[in-house]
Amino acid sequence: NMEVIVAKTAGFCFGVHRAVNKVYEQTEKGAAPIYTYGPIIHNEEVVKDLEARGVRVIGTRGELEQLICGTIVIRSHGVGRDIYSLIRERGLGLVDATCPYVKKIHRIVERESAEGRQIVIIGSDSHPEVEGIKGWCTGQATVIATEEEAEAFIPKEGKKLCVVSQTTFNNNKFKNLVEIISKKGYDSTVINTICNATEERQREAAEIAKQVDAMIVIGGRHSSNTQKLFEICKKECENTYYVQTLVDLEPILLPPVDCVGITAGASTPNHIIKEVYTYVRNEL
Ligand code: F3S
Repeated sequence: NMEVIVAKTAGFCFGVHRAVNKVYEQTEKGAAPIYTYGPIIHNEEVVKDLEARGVRVIGTRGELEQLICGTIVIRSHGVGRDIYSLIRERGLGLVDATCPYVKKIHRIVERESAEGRQIVIIGSDSHPEVEGIKGWCTGQATVIATEEEAEAFIPKEGKKLCVVSQTTFNNNKFKNLVEIISKKGYDSTVINTICNATEERQREAAEIAKQVDAMIVIGGRHSSNTQKLFEICKKECENTYYVQTLVDLEPILLPPVDCVGITAGASTPNHIIKEVYTYVRNEL
């Protein structure tokens, strides 16, 4: 009578789950042609499955400018104001799957920059989410990712600041960078807009790994958040296995155990988690 514990936070976070569902809803409605502005999720299998249902990925503003009909799905990362305008101008359909937590940041920076504050985004300048946030600021925003950048930062003359964060930024790093900026003594409003989905997933994984005899972590080989999950679990449970799908698990001879835990990285679809669960439940 083996016990199997599946983490509640395994796989997609709320925002990605919602976005993926919205695209599938569109395909079921038969609303062709459907485009997502950037891949809806970093999982090739899902993107291919959607492609087979007629969903195309467009990657740039230029491509958007070429379209004459269709529906554009904005993914959970969100986009700047200009992309909404462009979609409207071209008379295209719009399905907004921006994560509500990201939407909240858009509203904050729109309001605060309109009131004259200079926006500082703690995050990675090349990340599409940050790109989108910048696109809601009046005037130029500053993106800061490192201690050096925080040290070197000087606001425009006479400017008050509003500091926000990319949702997936690390909490401790955020606090550290905010401290460096705050020490300079500018008038600043700091709003921590980090989403705790990743931290929660890691915390739950560690908790489960502590209690079980074997732990299975599911996710793409190159997924850094899955690698991190694996490390965290391995620390708590020697018998931790990293698999991409059920196929990787089948040849592994698990030692006889009473209790197995399962978690999965942020881009692992539910059906893969279910497959692994069913296998562990019935075959081991
Ligand atoms: Fe996911 Fe939205 Fe958080 S996309 S990681 S729930 S900000």
